[in-house]
Order: sequence, then C-alpha cells, then structure tokens
Amino acid sequence: MEKVLILGATGNIGALAADRLVRENVSLRLVSSRESGVKSLRERFPTAEVQQADWYDPASLKAAMRGVDRLFIVTPDFVTDETVVTPNIIDAVREAGSVSQIVRLTAIPPGLKATDISREVLATRCGAAQHMVAKPLLDASGLPITYLNVACWIMFNLSWYLAEPVKTQQQLLMPAVTDARRRWVSEEDIADVIARILTDTPEEHIGQDYLMTGAEQFDYQDVAQLLSDVTGKTITYVDDDSMLKTSMGDYFDALMTYYTHESRDYLSVPASDAKLKILGVRQTTLAEYLAQNIAMFI
Ligand SMILES: NC(=O)c1ccc[n+]([C@@H]2O[C@H](COP(=O)([O-])OP(=O)(O)OC[C@H]3O[C@@H](n4cnc5c(N)ncnc54)[C@H](OP(=O)(O)O)[C@@H]3O)[C@@H](O)[C@H]2O)c1
Repeated sequence: MEKVLILGATGNIGALAADRLVRENVSLRLVSSRESGVKSLRERFPTAEVQQADWYDPASLKAAMRGVDRLFIVTPDFVTDETVVTPNIIDAVREAGSVSQIVRLTAIPPGLKATDISREVLATRCGAAQHMVAKPLLDASGLPITYLNVACWIMFNLSWYLAEPVKTQQQLLMPAVTDARRRWVSEEDIADVIARILTDTPEEHIGQDYLMTGAEQFDYQDVAQLLSDVTGKTITYVDDDSMLKTSMGDYFDALMTYYTHESRDYLSVPASDAKLKILGVRQTTLAEYLAQNIAMFI
C-alpha cells in the first residue's frame, strides 16, 4: 500500500487533509518537529505512523522520507526559511528515491515574481513572499510536483481575528489600510482537493499548478453585510487594528508590511474553482461558510 507523508500535519490544512486520507484508508506518515506535536498526532490519528522530524535537520527529514510514495508539504508563514527548508526536502526526496508525487501548497498571485515585491515584503516570509522562494527551487529540482495555489484568503482567518468582536460587539474590526476586495476559499475545500490529488494516480496531476480562489471578491464592508445577513444583527465594519494586534502578537508588524503587497497584488487574481475542476463539486461560498459556522458569530 502507498505511504503518504505529510510535512505540516499538526497544522490547520495538514490535519484536515490527514482526516480525509484516514477516512480513505490511506497509509499515512505524519510528522511534527515537536514532542507535543507528535503526542497530539498520535492521539488524533491512532492508525497513522507518527515521527518526530524537523525540516532544518536533514537526518530527521531523510528518516521521515524513507519508503514514502507521496508527499504533501505545507509550511507556516513568517518563520520558514525556504532557502534552507526546500533544499532539505528536495535532498531527502532524492535520497529516498521512492516519491512519485509531491504536492505543495502555495499562495502566489498568478504572474507575480519576486522582483515585483519589495525587499521588506520578501523579508516577512509571509504568503507569496515565502512561496515565491520555494517554487523556483522545486521547479528546478525536476521532481514530480503538483501545486495547489490558494492565492486568496482562507476562511479560517475569520476564527483567528474577526469572529470574536463580531460576537461580542457586533463589529468587524480590521485596519482600513488593509482593506481590499479579496477572494475566499474554505479550508475544508482545500483539504478535499489535496486528499483527492493524493489519492488519484500521480500522472493525473503531476506538472499542474492549480489555482484555487473564490468566485466573488469581498471587502470588509461586504463581509460585514454577509455577517449581518447570516446573524440577523447589524454588523458594522470599524477601522481598528486592536484585534489583529492581539491575535498576531510579535508578527503584527510583519503582517502589516505583507498587507501592503497583498491588498494590491491579489486584486487581479481571477476566480478559479479547483474543487469543481478536480472533484466535480463547486466550492463553498463565503455566505455558506458563515452560515455553517454561525456559532462563531452569535
Ligand atoms: N491564512 C490564509 O488566508 C492563507 C491563504 C493562502 C495560503 N496560506 C498559506 O497556508 C500556509 C499555512 O497553512 P496552515 O495554517 O495549515 O499552517 P500551520 O497551521 O501554521 O502549520 C504549519 C505546520 O508546519 C510545521 N512545522 C513548523 N516548523 C517545522 C519544522 N521545523 N519542521 C517540520 N515541520 C514544521 C508545523 O508542525 P510542528 O510545529 O508540529 O512541527 C505545522 O504542522 C502558509 O504557507 C500560508 O502562506 C494561508
């Protein structure tokens, strides 16, 4: 039976993808760099192999890659040095010699190049600033790769810094300088697509760079209106950075720098329903997601 390795399995997307692969009886190897992460993976995925490995430690990464057939990679914003992590992953895949497909989550507005964004934005290692470093290295490796390019907001952002003040103050709080008309994709849809790509034959998807965005663009006023419709209360958008500051902590300044590029360069990202293309089922709209998760907001 094929073995699928997930690097980033304790994370939001990695764990949701693992949930689906477990349901499909796929043989999984899940990795965390932390002991506590290993423990939580063992509890949540008792049928999976779990290993401790750190992508800054080539030996541990090579041990995790041994005997693996397929690989899914998701790396976190702000902290990932892709100039080290991606070459380490490529080396480990080459040494294993068994990997028939790598699936990598990216977020790059189509056509955008590293030279189009400032050094300050690149230094944030957030979003495209991170993925535009990894992708050329993976492309040049000649390895069998499929990209899922989620060049928009993931709906789980709502739970981190938007939902609480909606619930307690009927206000959507975000700094106005970050406002833009954006597309949104649900994390559940992303996980569905990744699981399908990893369970189809690799040849169906190798060499593809699937763009996954939402059908519609929404600015903060639009999101507040959708929230009003769903909750039946008047939700007001307010120019306020307090909630974002609290939830981002030390990364707040880097995120604000990142937004100077994000709020500009994502405006022209087209609609692209990767779930419809790959699974034949259309993606969840933001209104549907808000309705499904109404408990977050009331
Ligand atoms: N938020 C958005 O709207 C949005 C939109 C589009 C794309 N994205 C992209 O989504 C990605 C983040 O996805 P996510 O939220 O699922 O990530 P996440 O929850 O932050 O998970 C990151 C994973 O990386 C693992 N990791 C961290 N350091 C490691 C190390 N040294 N060695 C091995 N593993 C390590 C973590 O595992 P351990 O800590 O257990 O080792 C964790 O499982 C980013 O690339 C971002 O650009 C986000």
